[in-house]
Amino acid sequence: MFTLIDGQAVAANIKTTIAEKLATYKLKNGSVPTLAVFIVGDNPASKVYVAGKERATELVGIRSIVERLPQDTTEAQLIAKIAEHNADDSIHGILVQLPLPTHIDAMRVTIAIAPEKDVDGFHPVNVGLLSIGTPQFIPCTPYGIMKLLETYNINPAGKLAVIVGRSNIVGKPIANLLLQADATVALCHSKTSDLKELCKQADILIAAVGKPNVITREYVKSGAVVIDVGINRLADGKLCGDVDFESVNKVASAITPVPKGVGPMTIAMLMQNTLEAYERFAGNNP
Ligand code: GUN
Repeated sequence: MFTLIDGQAVAANIKTTIAEKLATYKLKNGSVPTLAVFIVGDNPASKVYVAGKERATELVGIRSIVERLPQDTTEAQLIAKIAEHNADDSIHGILVQLPLPTHIDAMRVTIAIAPEKDVDGFHPVNVGLLSIGTPQFIPCTPYGIMKLLETYNINPAGKLAVIVGRSNIVGKPIANLLLQADATVALCHSKTSDLKELCKQADILIAAVGKPNVITREYVKSGAVVIDVGINRLADGKLCGDVDFESVNKVASAITPVPKGVGPMTIAMLMQNTLEAYERFAGNNP
């Protein structure tokens, strides 16, 4: 049986559940979880992502504050604004959209975010907590992938999971999560030898390379589950993933499409992380 993994539907369900929960909190005491988003400069892709995040907050009932800062904002100015939000008890989550302009050091900015408000899960404290198996915030895309596997009853235990791409945002955290779910994990990258042979052994193949259609049918074992994290824009303006969907869907047992696969889950899990930040801040009875 072949399964097309419907990230849009799963994300919609998650957002509905969050909206229902927040409506009851609001009725009880009128409090509102709040997410602050920083965007520096005018990277077109970043603008699209931030607009998507704003739409989702409205839908679920999270208040959002979007700080649009000019391209020439200094690192010190950005860090000072983050410090203001860290100290503000009415703000529960803080996110800085990446990439930042090259004159700003992204790691110094990430470290400036209070770990208990770091809804991206990129602060080294949160990276460390995840790596020892006691996460505070799970980065949104890997969190979304785990939710998709869970929703479709795909249990990673005992399976060989091969991940292509070792980024801090996707590859490394999903490797940790799959390991904690008892998969055997291979984390591959541009220097991996025999990548094709390794991928071909995978029960679960995760493509997070950032190159259009590089994972073709020759990389995929019959019956494998294929998760495509890539969002690439082709010359004709169309979106495509890292996986050559039209050939791989003939061998995979389950596959995420692009769009409407992992992408909507990333935003849904950001809403989930903001809810979790708010619940932890407010104690057990927000
Ligand atoms: N840029 C691309 N992906 C992400 C993400 O998950 N979070 C942030 N903050 N920026 C990104």
